[in-house]
Amino acid sequence: MDRMSVIEEFAGIQLPGHLHTPESLQYAQNFKFKEGDVLIVTYPKSGTTWMQEILTLIYSQGDTEIAMTIPNWERAPWLEHTYFKVTLKEGEGPRIITTHLPSSVLAPALQNSKAKVIYVARNPKDVAVSFYHFHKMAKFLPEISSFSEFLELFLKGKVCYGSWFDHVQGWYRQKNNLDFFCITYEDLQKDLRRSIKKLCGFLGCPMYSEEVDKVEQHCRFPVMSQNVMVNYMLIPKEIMNHDQSKFMRKGVVGDWKEHMTQEQSDAFDKIFQEKMSGCYLQFLWNL
Ligand code: A3P
Repeated sequence: MDRMSVIEEFAGIQLPGHLHTPESLQYAQNFKFKEGDVLIVTYPKSGTTWMQEILTLIYSQGDTEIAMTIPNWERAPWLEHTYFKVTLKEGEGPRIITTHLPSSVLAPALQNSKAKVIYVARNPKDVAVSFYHFHKMAKFLPEISSFSEFLELFLKGKVCYGSWFDHVQGWYRQKNNLDFFCITYEDLQKDLRRSIKKLCGFLGCPMYSEEVDKVEQHCRFPVMSQNVMVNYMLIPKEIMNHDQSKFMRKGVVGDWKEHMTQEQSDAFDKIFQEKMSGCYLQFLWNL
């Protein structure tokens, strides 16, 4: 038995109890955001770590020192994790905060705040594949015997952080209530440079072209997958076992085609059509 998974329910969604306690979740829900705070919001496996790295590099004007010496969970800590209070950086510069919590839990704390919210969404077929592989290596998540089993749970929203559909729809509906910027994993893949420039515009953080070059270069998959400050190789094997699957696994669009049968893909499309009506986000399924 190499699993340490304890799944807790909070506000109707499953969460890994190893990372969150009722107190840490309460703290997240009542958190007082300050002007200048930047909140990265994602459903798991949607490009969270990528965005943490991009923002770190934007705020350092392309200087890689922070990115190469401080782990991502310290420079952009998870609001809902037990260690958040002790890790949050106070002092100069904007605080970068990360969360996977759904809008039903967090939107009230953000109302009337001046925090900037960056939502990263990824096409859900690739999310499901990436999340499945993550379950193999992350020992704080339940053991899953096959991709088919996981897909079924994923489509029912019976996985940690709940339904992908509710997460994306819930946050998307907040777009006019918050200082909100939405970008997809596929946008980042298609044109990283353009995405970085758009982010700079949203953050009010102008950069010289050479600085954008540095951000772009540093945030490419081959570079990030070698950076121990973001590839999770610093985490003990008992918690994340990279022999089972790497955290920086493939970093591509369309890997779902290697995992899903035609039947599974058709059933997925049907659910997607039903659940995503009214959401005008465009997802790319292949590149
Ligand atoms: P795969 O498992 O499909 O490879 P998160 O950070 O939200 O947990 O998301 C992890 C996913 O983002 C993994 O997807 C990982 O490989 C991918 N990823 C991380 N950095 C990336 C980058 N620079 N370029 C492309 N994909 C990246």
